[in-house]
Parts: sequence; structure tokens; C-alpha cells
Amino acid sequence: MTEEKANKYKLLAEQINAVLDTNISWVGNFANVAAIIQDVFGHWWCGFYLVNNNQLELGPFQGPVACTSIQIGKGVCGTAWAQKQTIIVPDVHQFEGHIACSSASNSEIVVPLFKNEKVIAVLDIDSIHFNQFDEIDKINLETIVQRLSDFYKD
Ligand code: SME
Repeated sequence: MTEEKANKYKLLAEQINAVLDTNISWVGNFANVAAIIQDVFGHWWCGFYLVNNNQLELGPFQGPVACTSIQIGKGVCGTAWAQKQTIIVPDVHQFEGHIACSSASNSEIVVPLFKNEKVIAVLDIDSIHFNQFDEIDKINLETIVQRLSDFYKD
């Protein structure tokens, strides 16, 4: 399982390196990264919330319709933003203040993207499985989003 996951991240990194494009706006790059993660892992929901107007606003994503804005400190996304760190939630039903965009989601990981030490967005991934995310996801996703932040222009 652990090795399988690590191999998937290797494939993911290769695909992301192949598609990132400096000649377009950040939107297409963020959308492609969400699409690749979804293609490789088949999670329930995978996408970005962007810091805008002092809140998190829905950005490029793959999956069902999602809530469009999240305030700082609210839900898993707003908490990851406020704490400036990745949050892994093995069981979302145990996370106080979890924002349930879908009742099918059971575990979640949220990874902040930084630019000049400021959080500019978060990557949010939801799974229908409990306990889906671990340190391997954290390390690999943090590396991916760090690379992606270089493509962000506001
Ligand atoms: N569950 C998130 C909200 C976003 S959706 O899962 C797409 C949260 O608690 O912040």
C-alpha cells in the first residue's frame, strides 16, 4: 500500500512536470494539477480554494459541486490557512467545524500554498474512505503545491 502510493506520486510528479506551462495564466495550471491528482488517485473531490477578499474562494477543482467561500479559521480549509500548515483529518465527522460539502466525504487533507511566506491558496482533497491520507501524501503534496505556487500570478 505504502509503496503503491509512493509509486503513484512518482507518476504524478512526472505528469505534472510535463504539463506545467509558464505561458498561460495560473488557472489552467491549477486545473491541470487537480485533474492529474484525480486521474491518478480517483479521490472523491480534489481542488483549490484561493485566498481572495480575505476569504477562501472556490478555484479549479475536480468532483461534485462545492461550497464557494470559506472564512479564515472555519472548516478544515480555513484552519489550514489560519495555522499555515497541512492538516490531515482521518475522520471528518470527528473534526469540529468541518464543512460538509458532500456527505460522501469521510477523510480529508488540506495543504496550503505559499508565496513570499503568505498563504495564497489551499489544496483540498476529500476521500470517501476513512483514514485515506498520511505522511506520504503530506510530503508529496507539499512538494507539488510548492512547485505550483511558482506558477501563481495575481
Ligand atoms: N470540507 C472542507 C470544505 C471544502 S469541501 O470539502 C470541498 C472544510 O471543512 O474546509
